Amino acid sequence: MCVGPGITVGAHMSVRCRNLINRADIVYSSCHPLMEDWLKTMHHDVRSLQPLYAQNKDRRITYKEMVDLMLNAVRENRRVTGVFYGHPGVFAQVPHRAIAAAQREGYRAWMEPGISAEDCLYADLAIDPGAYGCQHMEASQFMFYQRQLDTAGYVILWQVALAGEITLSNRVSSTEQRAVLVELLLAHYPATHEVILYECPTLVTDTVRAEKICLDELTQAALTPITTLVIPPGKKMEHNQQVIDRLSQQAAAEKEQL
Ligand SMILES: C[S@@+](CC[C@H](N)C(=O)[O-])C[C@H]1O[C@@H](n2cnc3c(N)ncnc32)[C@H](O)[C@@H]1O
Repeated sequence: MCVGPGITVGAHMSVRCRNLINRADIVYSSCHPLMEDWLKTMHHDVRSLQPLYAQNKDRRITYKEMVDLMLNAVRENRRVTGVFYGHPGVFAQVPHRAIAAAQREGYRAWMEPGISAEDCLYADLAIDPGAYGCQHMEASQFMFYQRQLDTAGYVILWQVALAGEITLSNRVSSTEQRAVLVELLLAHYPATHEVILYECPTLVTDTVRAEKICLDELTQAALTPITTLVIPPGKKMEHNQQVIDRLSQQAAAEKEQL
């Protein structure tokens, strides 16, 4: 199984996640080192997947190695729990792939949700995704594909520190690559549009980063691997008058029939 211990060490882990760690034969983990230290207090055999990452190494190779490691242990009939920080299914390819591969080979495999950065963001920034809607996307995916932004809602770009890192081998993108992201966003928002650099605390003693900057300051801003870019709405929602009229006519016709 793949489980998520949440984002903040010692604060977010569900009882179910803890049980699945306790009951495992082997625990594989891709989390912050302090989270991994905490996991070691719960299980004698916690193996970090983090050393598989390396500068100039294609991340796709790293992901395949992670899946293979877990699957090989499953094939040896060991009960394997993969711990992936936050929610194991949110912007995390390895848990999805490992579970699908195990299921294809006939093993029982499943995912347990955890508290993701998205959950923390709604709480820390007082955003209700139901108010205007939220479009979540990996920053690079927004750059590499023809995506339509709905600027009447929140646009939330993940892995912004890797925006435009087309080699998939470096741990941060260059200023030039980030400038391309900003250029693309400037087609939708004014340069002075206020955006938020969000980081939820890894430790309970850390504070939330909710730094407001102008969009055109993003190229030079300090970004870390855990920064998420939150872009508040840039325009008002527009009524779809055609649909409203049609639904109103339907409602009026139904009332007349009564
Ligand atoms: C590979 S994804 C993993 C997300 C994780 N599975 C989750 O449930 O939140 C990494 C990205 O998640 C976001 N993220 C991770 N930790 C975060 C934190 N502490 N605060 C804000 N965003 C975070 C950032 O956009 C980061 O680049």
